[in-house]
Amino acid sequence: MRVLVIIDPPSSLRPRSDTSVVIMEECLLRGHSVFVCEPQDLSLRDNLPHAEVQQVTATNRQTAPALTLAEGSALHPLGHFHAVLMRKDPPFDSAYLQATQILEYARGQTFLMNDPRGLREANEKLYIFRFPDLIATTLVTRKMDEIKAFLAKLGTDIVVKPIDGFGGSAVFLVRPGDSNVNAILEVSTHGGHRWVMAQRYLPEGKLGDKRILLLGGEPAGWLRRIPASDDIRANLAAGGTAHVTELTARDREICARLRPHLIADGLHFVGIDIIGDHLLEVNVTSPTGVQAISRLYNFRLEAKIVDYIESHAPRMG
Ligand SMILES: Nc1ncnc2c1ncn2[C@@H]1O[C@H](COP(=O)(O)OP(=O)(O)O)[C@@H](O)[C@H]1O
Ligand SMILES: [Mg+2]
Repeated sequence: MRVLVIIDPPSSLRPRSDTSVVIMEECLLRGHSVFVCEPQDLSLRDNLPHAEVQQVTATNRQTAPALTLAEGSALHPLGHFHAVLMRKDPPFDSAYLQATQILEYARGQTFLMNDPRGLREANEKLYIFRFPDLIATTLVTRKMDEIKAFLAKLGTDIVVKPIDGFGGSAVFLVRPGDSNVNAILEVSTHGGHRWVMAQRYLPEGKLGDKRILLLGGEPAGWLRRIPASDDIRANLAAGGTAHVTELTARDREICARLRPHLIADGLHFVGIDIIGDHLLEVNVTSPTGVQAISRLYNFRLEAKIVDYIESHAPRMG
């Protein structure tokens, strides 16, 4: 199988935590050919989507660089690859949007994970509104006064976060009566020019949130992430620590509710965050956590992912 992974600059991949690295490692172990490119390497020519790619000859999950690349690059139509994995990190900016619009023309020629239409359709924070009964009280607005009114009405702590953030960046805790409220809201909304999500703070989050990775809408791996004692954010990238956990009936219910939506949207591989009974977000762009889960449970979650890719890839020569 020939697999193309669209990533951020290869030198930015973190050997010990990046999920793309271990998916590529597993592909190489199975004798597949692995290639990478950045979104800027995509083009449409001769009426077909193409990519200028570099071949990955080795991965390293201990020390940088995480990828060893062969000399030189080659231009191929995307249909040359059995699978194309779009794994560039957010933000979902206009260049990202345009990349998905180019990928659209590869539909039917290769296995697209995740589907570019699904990537466009599913804002990682806003997707939760499809399941109003699964979420904490939430307001999405650009207007600072509306967030202050929301805070006053709830009378409890709230979290304010960008709707295009990831890795815990710019997730603020705001308390009623806090004299920094105005300043925090100015910064987070960029003075009223950017939508943010204001959400009831879930105090159970202190004990950790749960990250569940879903393949084809089915839970494939999970872990609990406990925030550092001086932080509300459980993201491993923000100092959270990884712990073994089990799925509760509620967790399984949340996954089952998501499943038909994920399948309809071609969102084959996603990561969801849950605190207590509530769904926080659905990561669709570059879900992560595979290395941490594989280490915790001493198994190779990446093997399940590559099994999934193999079973969906078109049969080609
Ligand atoms: N409503 C909330 N209550 C408590 N903690 C929260 C809430 N929203 C976010 N957090 C904490 O912040 C982290 C990051 O928030 P999340 O919505 O997942 O955004 P990101 O895309 O940055 O991961 C969560 O994993 C959780 O630890
Ligand atoms: Mg998250």
